[in-house]
Amino acid sequence: MRILVTGGAGFIGSHLCERLLSEGNEVICLDNFFTGRRQNVVGLQDYRSFEVVRHDVTEPILLEVDQIYNLACPASPIHYQYNPVKTVKTNVMGAINMLGLAKRVKARILQASTSEVYGDPLMHPQQESYWGNVNPIGIRSCYDEGKRLAETLMMDYHRQNGVDTRIARIFNTYGPRMLENDGRVVSNFVVQSLRGKDMTIYGEGLQTRSFCYVDDLVEGIFRLLLSNYTLPMNIGNPGEITIKEFAEEIIKLTGTTQKIIYQPLPKDDPKQRQPDITKAKEILKWDPKVSRAEGLKITYDYFKSLPKEVLYHRDHKSFEGFIK
Ligand SMILES: NC(=O)c1ccc[n+]([C@@H]2O[C@H](COP(=O)([O-])OP(=O)(O)OC[C@H]3O[C@@H](n4cnc5c(N)ncnc54)[C@H](O)[C@@H]3O)[C@@H](O)[C@H]2O)c1
Repeated sequence: MRILVTGGAGFIGSHLCERLLSEGNEVICLDNFFTGRRQNVVGLQDYRSFEVVRHDVTEPILLEVDQIYNLACPASPIHYQYNPVKTVKTNVMGAINMLGLAKRVKARILQASTSEVYGDPLMHPQQESYWGNVNPIGIRSCYDEGKRLAETLMMDYHRQNGVDTRIARIFNTYGPRMLENDGRVVSNFVVQSLRGKDMTIYGEGLQTRSFCYVDDLVEGIFRLLLSNYTLPMNIGNPGEITIKEFAEEIIKLTGTTQKIIYQPLPKDDPKQRQPDITKAKEILKWDPKVSRAEGLKITYDYFKSLPKEVLYHRDHKSFEGFIK
């Protein structure tokens, strides 16, 4: 198969490219390098069947491919809120361009959606049938509503044009190659402890999250694309934990002697998150295998191995050098 991975130089995309290459596929990694890095895919250049294309999904592209994984979109709030209009364009025009391509070359396409389509959920855990509780005009809406519209487009191209579509609702994912400056809870806590800084909890730390290790996530979306299931499917780890408990786990893992400090909760921060993965279990015969202890240890070792100039000097604003 010749497979296009948009956002392929990003955190999840680079692991997916690696997985697809290891299965003997040809892979085209398409990225505009906003939050992605060449470094993430440099190890894949040894594969003759791997190609990197610098391109922005908001522009159409002509390629001959059999499958498309549409992952292009910054995933962390500080990155997607940096240029919210661009985030909407990436989600909406990106989906239209990739669906147009899929329609033309009769490729199967998987859209990376998100648990954020459930907003601040009133149903717990979240099942795919839940329509969500999303603020349409808030600071997270560019991402949440952008992804919701990408899902709408997938379903409409499927119904109207017979495009072979898949929708993965991805829940919080972590692992090596996460950006150290993405402001998300896993990287924040690990990097703060490695830098010898106090660990920041937003709010009282009673909000919950469920963290999925990247290898498990990649296996889930890989199986979803190969299935014949065209409705949205949750892919995530149901192991739910409060942020405060999670901070304690990181303290234990890293042995940091720093203290926890509390800061105000950002706007529209969801109070709880836990995927119901009944469908993935039944249809894909998939469930997460990597325990949080195991996954966090690998992630911690990854951050620890980063060059000091990366770990200590890249702050939340270092992506602002991006021109587009
Ligand atoms: N990481 C998570 O916990 C999580 C959770 C839910 C959904 N997702 C989704 O999974 C996908 C991958 O997320 P990630 O964590 O790897 O994020 P990431 O920021 O590491 O990767 C996104 C990639 O897309 C690229 N990109 C952004 N805008 C683009 C554009 N206009 N054209 C071309 N490339 C563009 C970036 O440069 C980057 O390489 C995203 O669609 C995200 O919304 C991720």
